[in-house]
Amino acid sequence: MEKIIIEGKSRLKGEVTISGAKNAAVAILPATILINGVCTIENIPDISDIKAYCKILETIGVKINKISKNTLEIDTTKINSIEAPLDLTSKFRASYYLAGALLGRCHHAIIGMPGGCKLGARPMDQHIKAFEALGADVEIEKGKIEVEARKLKGTSIYLDIVSVGATINAMLASVLAEGTTTIENAAKEPHIVDLANFLNKMGANIMGAGTDRIRIQGVKALKKEGTYSVVPDQIEAGTFMLAAVATRGDITIKNCITKHLESITAKIIEMGANVEDIGGDTIRVTANSRPTKVNIKTLPYPGFPTDLQPQMGVVMSIAKGTSVINESIWDSRFQYTEELNRMGAKIMAQGKVAIFEGVDKLVGAPVSATDLRAGAALIIAGIVAEGKTEVLNVEHIDRGYENIEEKFKKLGAKITRVKE
Ligand code: EPZ
Repeated sequence: MEKIIIEGKSRLKGEVTISGAKNAAVAILPATILINGVCTIENIPDISDIKAYCKILETIGVKINKISKNTLEIDTTKINSIEAPLDLTSKFRASYYLAGALLGRCHHAIIGMPGGCKLGARPMDQHIKAFEALGADVEIEKGKIEVEARKLKGTSIYLDIVSVGATINAMLASVLAEGTTTIENAAKEPHIVDLANFLNKMGANIMGAGTDRIRIQGVKALKKEGTYSVVPDQIEAGTFMLAAVATRGDITIKNCITKHLESITAKIIEMGANVEDIGGDTIRVTANSRPTKVNIKTLPYPGFPTDLQPQMGVVMSIAKGTSVINESIWDSRFQYTEELNRMGAKIMAQGKVAIFEGVDKLVGAPVSATDLRAGAALIIAGIVAEGKTEVLNVEHIDRGYENIEEKFKKLGAKITRVKE
């Protein structure tokens, strides 16, 4: 077990380069199953969810050659099993994309139920609805989900809820289906667009990704080889933007797509800090004074992302005035507020609403990363706070942030990782 130790009260200054997007990479890796050939994926973040994904892919026969830290050559010519075991799938959420990808390629998949951050109920009814609409039978038994279809036939799928995962699984299952599939009320997140760009580059025919209506004209096969580079991580970029505001710092963030950061930028400006687009996929966030209160409601893209809610919570906890967060995506994403309260924050969370009465300062304490984004938020809190903060359960953070303490250290944080 490892923990992160932070000596606080640093103002972060300097440059940081954003890695490839976790939530795009974890969709593109299983999508390579549909290629039935060899492709090279660049700008893959070096994080534990990707390592876990590679392990699962290898157990079903995929050959993975690590060309460099962030580039993988993936050979999906041979798939010798359609079954992914529970001990591997339960480690993270995106393992359920194997269901869509294997169904698309082999018409059959048996997947152990997925794990991932504990954010409240995470049902799969919309995934199942999409698979069934395409002609598959779905059974859930003994912790496994089995999907099987004699033939996959294009259809119209209306998602009752805007779901990233169900949109991706529906896309994966329909790329090689016969005829045209439309996904209505689809999610519009940057990772959906990135997956569509990858599949289209490999010969798929997907239109409308990034809108709420995605149309997929099934093709017989994809190209047998190709190279693709994963989009930069919107959430990692937002994490450093909010770290600049929280620490009254000056951070230049390279390799980010400013369009993906509009909702965050708007809130940061509302809090009195500056966001400057300096061109070349680079922005600079500067903050010279205590942030002012702001209210947010998390929403599917292009709304304010739930995956930046805890990091924003840190800024609100030290802002002038009282701020409110309305979490509309997850039932249980305020566990981190108890940890912040241990550091002197004044937060009252109930159900899907939290009220942040801004305090002058936070004080370091031992805290626990309750999930991935909560962990990133607690690191920011530790950098802001007076004294020493110890962040436990850092394995959650390693699931989604590449080299996080090195990146913060380069910006001036006094942060180290030690074995417990
Ligand atoms: C993705 O999760 C992300 N994970 C999450 O990021 C992110 O918080 C979430 O989208 C929302 O943006 C990955 O991309 C791997 P959803 P996902 O299906 O796909 C309900 C992070 O920190 N729902 O869009 O699981 C669900 O309960 C992680 O990187 C159903 O009711 O989210 C939730 O309330 C955490 N039935 C809402 O929809 C379904 O069949 C949105 O969930 C599916 C979802």
